[in-house]
Amino acid sequence: MKVPFPKSLNLAVTPTPLEKLRDIPLIPPDYKVYIKRDDLTGFGLSGNKVRKLEFLAYEALKKKADTLVTCGGFQSNHARATALVAAQLGLKSALVLFGDEPPQNEGNLFLDKLCGAEIGFVPLSEYENVDRIMEQFSSELKFKGRNPYIIPEGGSNPLGVWGYIKAAFEMKKQIDKLEIKIAKIVTALSSAGTYCGLFLGAKLCGWKTEVMGINVRFLPTYPKEKIITLLEKTIAQYRLKVRFTEKEIKVVEGYVGEGYALNKKEEIEFIKAFISKSGILLDPVYTGKAMFGLVDRLKKGEFSRKEKILFLHTGGGFGLFPVKEKYFS
Ligand SMILES: Cc1ncc(COP(=O)(O)O)c(C=O)c1O
Repeated sequence: MKVPFPKSLNLAVTPTPLEKLRDIPLIPPDYKVYIKRDDLTGFGLSGNKVRKLEFLAYEALKKKADTLVTCGGFQSNHARATALVAAQLGLKSALVLFGDEPPQNEGNLFLDKLCGAEIGFVPLSEYENVDRIMEQFSSELKFKGRNPYIIPEGGSNPLGVWGYIKAAFEMKKQIDKLEIKIAKIVTALSSAGTYCGLFLGAKLCGWKTEVMGINVRFLPTYPKEKIITLLEKTIAQYRLKVRFTEKEIKVVEGYVGEGYALNKKEEIEFIKAFISKSGILLDPVYTGKAMFGLVDRLKKGEFSRKEKILFLHTGGGFGLFPVKEKYFS
């Protein structure tokens, strides 16, 4: 089947490396873990978000937008990537960030400000109304004569999903070149755009592999309808010849820990040890918890030693800086 890729920009440094994770003491011996280094999609733009933004920003330019509007937590990787993409394209960015404005500009927030993003801080209790708040923010910009383009949380709408549909094709090509079979792809799961893209992309490129999303966000469990809705919307909007059953959607629970963006001591120790043994930065909110979850499952013998597993590193390294005190206290 011809895959109807929408037009996109080239913003990410791709293909990113896909390689075997060096044997490190943290990973139980005999397991074969591979890693897709999407933390290397660029420096400022590092991580998964830029792949979605390649499609979204193309549409924004086509619509002659002058401002990219999006939202996230005040350390949002997605908001930072959007602010940088806007700056690269000569556009403005306007960010709705949840939480109280922190006293110091650290990590992603520092980069948002360096990009000149217009930032509105909104109480976390308003999170439910995020789409309405972005609409309101955009109406105010329109009133000033601007032409805003709204990008939903995490860039996770059907157009953004194409970022990881395309990435799945890139990964399959690399896997074929290595002449290996991957039984499972493991990724951090939050707004689900990355998961849905991999899930659909694997089907579209004929890659028989399971896609596992480690819930790092929702307690007590991930609302699976969020994934199903995004999959169905993407399939319908682009008339993809893809079928799926709910059973194929694999969400791994048990690794949100104390809550979204909160870390327990055990996770912090794991992240420190992983970085010092591998030289690969994990972030505290997404990849740190996802890798922690993967290693925990390996230790519990929940994967076959014969299977090769591919961990998608989705970036997020700037998120380490605002919490640095917790790592050496
Ligand atoms: C570093 C990082 N990894 C993973 C994710 C999760 O991706 P998604 O929101 O597409 O589920 C995010 C999303 O914010 C992220 O910033």
